[in-house]
Amino acid sequence: MKVAFGSDHAGIELKLFLMDYLKSRGYECIDYGNYDPNDRGDDYPVPGRKVAEAIRAGEAEKGVLICGTGLGISLAANKVPGIRAAVCSEPYTASMSVMHNNCQILSMGARVVGRGLAQKMVDAFFEASFEGGRHQTRVDMITQIEKDYERS
Ligand code: RB5
Repeated sequence: MKVAFGSDHAGIELKLFLMDYLKSRGYECIDYGNYDPNDRGDDYPVPGRKVAEAIRAGEAEKGVLICGTGLGISLAANKVPGIRAAVCSEPYTASMSVMHNNCQILSMGARVVGRGLAQKMVDAFFEASFEGGRHQTRVDMITQIEKDYERS
């Protein structure tokens, strides 16, 4: 599976750690930036958008986004139609974000979680499968909101 990674300066160290981890488990990892941990003026919407658009375009199946809190970068990704990015700080929500919400992107805060917890969330996210059924109906309702606003 191809996985798109993105972070701002706050998330670069954790991003590289998780990329190595997933590579060791056989995943193909693509880094969409940012790349300089000392560039404190970089902007999290840039990698958030790039990763979301890569998934929308089929360049990658899933994504991992990291900023200081995981919030700003997920907000940017969630503006791309069809993309569902979940901010998580423990494995249960990471797992459920796939099982019930069919999220393609796991987002987290490098200033919130440590490496061990981040690794467990990645395991939970990538081992989970979407359950479909009534959950598909609800995800379709989210997609419908996007479509309604496209028309206005
Ligand atoms: C950068 O200082 C910080 O605002 C960013 O990493 C993120 O936490 C925003 O949501």
